[in-house]
Amino acid sequence: MLDEKMTDAINKQLNAELYSAYLYLSMGAYFESEDLSGFANWMRVQAQEELSHAMKFYDYLVQRGARVTLTEIETPPTEWDSPVAVFEHVFEHEQMVTGLINKLVDLAISISDHATNNFLQWYVAEQVEEEESASGVLQKVKLAGESPSGLFMLDQELSQRVFNPPASSQ
Ligand SMILES: [Fe+2]
Ligand SMILES: [Fe+2]
Repeated sequence: MLDEKMTDAINKQLNAELYSAYLYLSMGAYFESEDLSGFANWMRVQAQEELSHAMKFYDYLVQRGARVTLTEIETPPTEWDSPVAVFEHVFEHEQMVTGLINKLVDLAISISDHATNNFLQWYVAEQVEEEESASGVLQKVKLAGESPSGLFMLDQELSQRVFNPPASSQ
């Protein structure tokens, strides 16, 4: 049986992952409007990843016999000043999410919920990758931002990203 506080916190994180998907989809729509379809593709894949993060929490709650409670998803921003501004936002957002995951781990440890702590370690590792990938693209877009041909080449590179569903934890 999952602790009530833990259930509430995971439901909140489920919402935060759905918001992340929403945010990245909005960034994708921004890039589509700027005719940067490779950047838009990267964001679309990122949104799919966030949806899979949300579903992993959903499945865990179901597995533990806890209630999934869906709540309102905040409206994401729709405009950014530049591709660099978008990726600065992505990097900041991922650092914020890392903080949320760490707080969930703190809660699991404080109530000796070792199963949830173990489950959350997947997200701890995932956030290291998320931050690395966000800061990696940020560095590239900062360099490419200086020249239109650089931006064009980066757009080509980002068009190659494909969604690989994470292996199920169950
Ligand atoms: Fe996520
Ligand atoms: Fe993420």
